[in-house]
Amino acid sequence: MDLLEKIKNRQALVGVIGLGYVGLPLALRFFEVGFPVLGFDTDPKKVELLNRGESYIKHIPSERLAEAGRSPEGKGKFSATADLGRLGEPEALLICVPTPLTSKREPDLRYVENTARQIAKTLRPGQLVSLESTTYPGTTEELVLPLLSGRLRVGQDFFLVFSPEREDPGNPRFQVSTIPKVVGGVTPACLEHGVALYSQVIEQIVPVSSTRAAEMSKLLENIYRAVNIALVNELKILCLRMGVDIFEVIEASKTKPFGFQAFYPGPGLGGHCIPIDPFYLTWKAREYDFSTRFIELAGEINSYMPYFVVQRVTEILNDRGKSLGGAHILVLGLAYKRDVGDARESPGLKIMNLLRQRGAAVSYNDPYIPQYIGGRHYPGLEITSAPLNQETLQQADLVLLVTDHSDYDYPWIASQAKLILDTRNAFKGIRGDHIYQA
Ligand SMILES: NC(=O)c1ccc[n+]([C@@H]2O[C@H](COP(=O)([O-])OP(=O)(O)OC[C@H]3O[C@@H](n4cnc5c(N)ncnc54)[C@H](O)[C@@H]3O)[C@@H](O)[C@H]2O)c1
Repeated sequence: MDLLEKIKNRQALVGVIGLGYVGLPLALRFFEVGFPVLGFDTDPKKVELLNRGESYIKHIPSERLAEAGRSPEGKGKFSATADLGRLGEPEALLICVPTPLTSKREPDLRYVENTARQIAKTLRPGQLVSLESTTYPGTTEELVLPLLSGRLRVGQDFFLVFSPEREDPGNPRFQVSTIPKVVGGVTPACLEHGVALYSQVIEQIVPVSSTRAAEMSKLLENIYRAVNIALVNELKILCLRMGVDIFEVIEASKTKPFGFQAFYPGPGLGGHCIPIDPFYLTWKAREYDFSTRFIELAGEINSYMPYFVVQRVTEILNDRGKSLGGAHILVLGLAYKRDVGDARESPGLKIMNLLRQRGAAVSYNDPYIPQYIGGRHYPGLEITSAPLNQETLQQADLVLLVTDHSDYDYPWIASQAKLILDTRNAFKGIRGDHIYQA
């Protein structure tokens, strides 16, 4: 049976490499439509948890994994392994490993490269490899392909595509199956195999003419967000000076039925994607003697936002005759966005760090992040979420709302806190001269 047939019959073993925010939901989707799935992750703790049917990602319920372990009627089989020596087993290999920036803000393709080297060791005829990690145009053909093509020919013996992930963690309106998926192949046969596989699990596939076009389309989406968020962030600062409510303005502009999409200001960018991905293109553009000015400017404005929030905290305390040094600030929300437990690149961390450097006593509450331990940017940091009760609210000189989780009872918080600085318009409609916007 050839690969296309195995895909159609849902007998192809699907290997998902990197069982994180992107890889895990994708693996579960393939399992749920009947494919056998083998997940790979270099973190043995995650592998162990997943094999026990326990999810380590808050918005992915453990029930979905528990079911995966039992391989029920009509569904596939799911298991996870840390043994990359088994990469020769699956027919399809979907690479969902991290693509961060180095400390010099250059693409860090270590994970993709290591994975490609591992795949190369056991690559065999009839395997399809798809890179899903966000990266600059050219990665699939310039980095991955040379590592894979030794004795085997691409498009004949094995197939290689790039298909960017569009996961929006925690957004209940979209599932893997309903988010259209872009696919670009190294050859027409590669594209045909990629489209065949993804169309088994996703309603709409968008084939494009090359892997570069697919890589660039993902970056365009994220750059579009970064630039538009920077625009509203800048306008927010101006509106505050003018005494105009930017959120009211956006609601009004949003009623235009064409040519406008609403973006919202905030305390700064966070997450694995928007603060990072645009700079993959900036780096690549240098090879073409080209400077990506919109990306740089957006980056400048967005990375200034945590400093702006801290400046607002200082001014507001000052108005009340208090200085930031020695003040007790309670930060609400450490996650980079609403209703997720992910603090990667979160502006909340930056803000807490800046407040501490300026002498404030800072605590935080986040129902999704009971504890936060260091990480690349804040080594040595170890903090625990404070309970959100009358006492913690009343003790704080200022309550700083960084992430607007839906669990928070805003009218109650407003009734208890002495001073509030709201970076998300979460206290909309609640009156009080102790509530400020930032
Ligand atoms: N999180 C999102 O919302 C999102 C959305 C779209 C695209 N992306 C992109 O998807 C990619 C993955 O992001 P993520 O958020 O899922 O990351 P993640 O950190 O949640 O998951 C990556 C996983 O890969 C594992 N891993 C690292 N190296 C490995 C290796 N060599 N072999 C096997 N496993 C390995 C890690 O242990 C981790 O579990 C990135 O390129 C990201 O930019 C993320």
